[in-house]
Amino acid sequence: MIDGAWVICIMRRFVHAILTLTMIIKMKKFILRPHRLSDVPSLAKNINDPSNVRFTQHIPYPYKRHHAVSWVRKQMRERRKKRPSFIQWAIVIDNEVVGGIGINKIIYGHKAEIGYWLAREHRRQGVMKRAVKEIVRYAFTRLGLRRIFAFTLTNNLASQKVLLRNGFLTEGRHRKNVLKDGAFKDTYVFGKVR
Ligand SMILES: CC(C)(COP(=O)(O)OP(=O)(O)OC[C@H]1O[C@@H](n2cnc3c(N)ncnc32)[C@H](O)[C@@H]1OP(=O)(O)O)[C@@H](O)C(=O)NCCC(=O)NCCS
Repeated sequence: MIDGAWVICIMRRFVHAILTLTMIIKMKKFILRPHRLSDVPSLAKNINDPSNVRFTQHIPYPYKRHHAVSWVRKQMRERRKKRPSFIQWAIVIDNEVVGGIGINKIIYGHKAEIGYWLAREHRRQGVMKRAVKEIVRYAFTRLGLRRIFAFTLTNNLASQKVLLRNGFLTEGRHRKNVLKDGAFKDTYVFGKVR
């Protein structure tokens, strides 16, 4: 006879597999999908660029293999939860992870923060504009959230444009909001609601 714990374990794995499948979004130029451990080499290679770190807060530099391993493992653990507090997607072109996008600090029934990065050679081709559109749609329709927000440094024009082109509004300026390179920097906050 099959023991109850096994049944629960199998059911959990099944639910996890279904959830993972429903996260896959295929576009013409790229695919959005959950990270896998086999992504570690391309993730570590493509994210390791000072231009990613310049405008973000949580990406280490230099970015080593072990950073990628622990980041992918952390996501895998989070995906097993019934209500993950963050959900991340790899942006994949030609089987390489060339970017990342995710919603963080999720409060179910309410809101989450969106964040993203893209490898230099794929920028300015509309990739992030499209990726943000898809993830906002996912957050609003699949998760039922009512507000998505983002913070950008005041000089991050590229990120601001990505948000504005997706119908986000500039909601204000937070003075000395982040400590970056030894100085307190202002940020803009952007929001989109439904
Ligand atoms: C921000 C970032 C993700 C933009 O990705 P992208 O795929 O190049 O953006 P898109 O090609 O979709 O461009 C969207 C809009 O921004 C504009 N844009 C892109 N890069 C720009 C730049 N460096 N300066 C000014 N405008 C820019 C595009 O022209 C486009 O505007 P349009 O609709 O009028 O044509 C990318 O520059 C990046 O990864 N930067 C480093 C990490 C980062 O800043 N993350 C966000 C932290 S808040």
